Amino acid sequence: MGKLRVALLFGGRSVEHEVSLVSANSILGALDPSRYDVTLVAVDTDGHWHLGDPSLPPSPAALQAAIKGPEVDLPVAPGEHTLIPVGGADPKSGQTFDVIFPVIHGRGGEDGSLQGLLELAGIPYVGSGVLGSAIQMDKEVSKRLLAAAGLPVTPGTCVRANRLGAGAAVVDALIGELGTSVFVKPANQGSSVGISKVESREDLLPALRDAARYDTKILVERAIDAREIEVALLGNDPIEASIPGEIRTRHAFYDYDAKYVDDATELLIPAPIEDSLANEMRRLAVAAAVALESAGLARVDFLLERDTDQIFINEVNSIPGFTQGSMYPLLWQATGIAYPALLDRLIELALERHRINTALETRYEPTR
Ligand SMILES: Nc1ncnc2c1ncn2[C@@H]1O[C@H](COP(=O)(O)OP(=O)(O)O)[C@@H](O)[C@H]1O
Ligand SMILES: [Mg+2]
Repeated sequence: MGKLRVALLFGGRSVEHEVSLVSANSILGALDPSRYDVTLVAVDTDGHWHLGDPSLPPSPAALQAAIKGPEVDLPVAPGEHTLIPVGGADPKSGQTFDVIFPVIHGRGGEDGSLQGLLELAGIPYVGSGVLGSAIQMDKEVSKRLLAAAGLPVTPGTCVRANRLGAGAAVVDALIGELGTSVFVKPANQGSSVGISKVESREDLLPALRDAARYDTKILVERAIDAREIEVALLGNDPIEASIPGEIRTRHAFYDYDAKYVDDATELLIPAPIEDSLANEMRRLAVAAAVALESAGLARVDFLLERDTDQIFINEVNSIPGFTQGSMYPLLWQATGIAYPALLDRLIELALERHRINTALETRYEPTR
C-alpha cells in the first residue's frame, strides 16, 4: 500500500488560533514520513482555507507559509476527498486526501461545525464526530449529561446573557445559590478566555458581562479549592484512559497566561495521588467520555477538592493541546505510547470509525 495522504488542518477563527499552530507544528514534526504524505491546510483567521507547500521541511515557517498559500475549498461531494483551488484554477488540479487531522481548538474547529462539513464531504477525520464535538464544547450541556449519567460535576448554574439587564436580581439569585466565591465562564470557549474567579458580590456582574462577550450562555460554578488532575483518553469503543497527571500553577487559577504565556505552570506526571483515587479518576474519565459521545481522543479535567479529596469533573476537551509539551501526549507517553505512535493510533481510529459509519444502512432494507 502507498503512503496515507494526511491533511493536517490547523489555525482557525477562534481565539485559540495561535495555540493550534504550536500543536500542528509538533504533529507535523512527528508524523512518520515513511508512512504518511502530509499536506498542511491552514484555516486563516477569516475562515478561508489555504494549502501548504509540501516541499517545505516541517517547521513553524512552513505553517506560516501555509496561511498565505493558495486558497482551496472542500466541496460537499461525498467520496471525492479533494480540496479544490479557489479562483478559476483547474478543479482537476485539486489535492486528494485519505484522512484529515484537525487540530483547530475552540469554535469552528472543536464544536462540531467542522466535523459536519467533513461528514458531508464523506472524508475520515481524527477525533469526535458532530454530536460528540458539539456536546463537549458546550460546558453547560456537558454538565447536564454528566450529571444525568450520575457523574460528579461542580455545582453550578446557567445564566443567559439577556438576563443580565436584571442586574442585582441575577446577582442575588446566584449568590443565594452558590455563595460569593464562584467561577464565571462562557459556556462555549476554551483556554480560560472570558473566565473570571469572583470573590465578592461587586465583582460578579462585571464578570458575567465579560463572559457574555464570548457567549450568550454563561456558566457560574461554585469555586472549588482544588488540585487540577487530568486524564487522557484514546479509542472509539472501547476507550482507554491514561494515568492521571497534575497541573500546578502559581496563578490564582489555570488562566490563559498560566497556560501559554509564562512558565509558572508545572506538570506532574504521574499525579502524586493515591492509587485508589487515580483508578477512580480513570474510571470516571472513561464514563464521562462515553456520556459525551467522545471518539478518538479526549482529555478529561478534574478538580480534586483539597480538604475532602472529593472528585469533580470540570470539563472534557475533544481537541486537547497537542504540543510535545502538552498534557495529552505526555500522559500517553508516561502510559506507554510515544508521540509518533499516538498519532498513528489516532489516524487508525479515524479510519476505523469512518469504515463502521459508512457500512451502516442509510435506507430501509427489509431483512426478510
Ligand atoms: N468551579 C471551579 N472551581 C475551581 N477552579 C475552577 C472552576 N472552574 C474553572 N476553574 C479554573 O479555571 C480554569 C479554566 O476553566 P475551564 O472550565 O477548564 O475552562 P477552559 O475550557 O477555558 O479550560 C480551570 O483549569 C481551573 O483552574
Ligand atoms: Mg480547562
